[in-house]
Amino acid sequence: MMAWETSIMRSSVDALLPGLPAGKRILNIGFGMGIIDAMFRETQPSRHHIIEAHPEVLKHVEGSPDCTFGKDWEAGGPSEGAYKIHAGKWQEVVPRLLEQGELYDAIYFDTFGEDYSQLRMFFTEYVPGLLDEGGIFGFFNGLGADRKVCYDVYTKVVEMHLTDAGLDIEWNELDVDMKGLEEEGKGEWHGVKRRYWTLDKYRLPIITLMG
Ligand SMILES: C[S@@+](CC[C@H](N)C(=O)[O-])C[C@H]1O[C@@H](n2cnc3c(N)ncnc32)[C@H](O)[C@@H]1O
Repeated sequence: MMAWETSIMRSSVDALLPGLPAGKRILNIGFGMGIIDAMFRETQPSRHHIIEAHPEVLKHVEGSPDCTFGKDWEAGGPSEGAYKIHAGKWQEVVPRLLEQGELYDAIYFDTFGEDYSQLRMFFTEYVPGLLDEGGIFGFFNGLGADRKVCYDVYTKVVEMHLTDAGLDIEWNELDVDMKGLEEEGKGEWHGVKRRYWTLDKYRLPIITLMG
């Protein structure tokens, strides 16, 4: 993960858990390199659930000594099942969590590579049922980030769809240090298929239940 993304993960955790209180119930969708989960873990949550689908990522979690989210982490939770990586697509796992009556104080969604329809389905069909009163939902906001005009249009579209879903949104605008991010294929983009970020401002979403 690039430095600018790590700093966005930091700001997202600070926004989802204001004051970083211990004992919160957290759901993170998309483990990736576990950057945001390591930050969530530092807050000493009472529940910390992660959903990850990619077999290679799951293999790394289970088998690599570099990864500290394996079985020992799960076993160290305050109760059975409190700390858990759910293997599988969120589209299959989340309905089960909902059925089990799980409720969260903070939910984060970052499944790079899926299109907007999936994010919209997640916040429309599941967030209202999974987020407890006073809880906060956020997602990695890279929507349309290859052009400012597209980013602005997505901002409006997301606002509209969140309202339809009964959710309120506030944006926290952050500066992005563009050093090394200016040119396709160069600097931070060396070896990266597509320059998926081109903007010097990041709009961080802070989403709550309406009312
Ligand atoms: C950009 S990474 C997440 C990075 C993470 N926020 C971090 O701080 O390291 C996206 C992750 O989402 C996972 N993913 C993509 N689609 C998914 C799905 N439908 N269900 C569960 N995980 C998914 C990918 O395998 C990948 O590990």
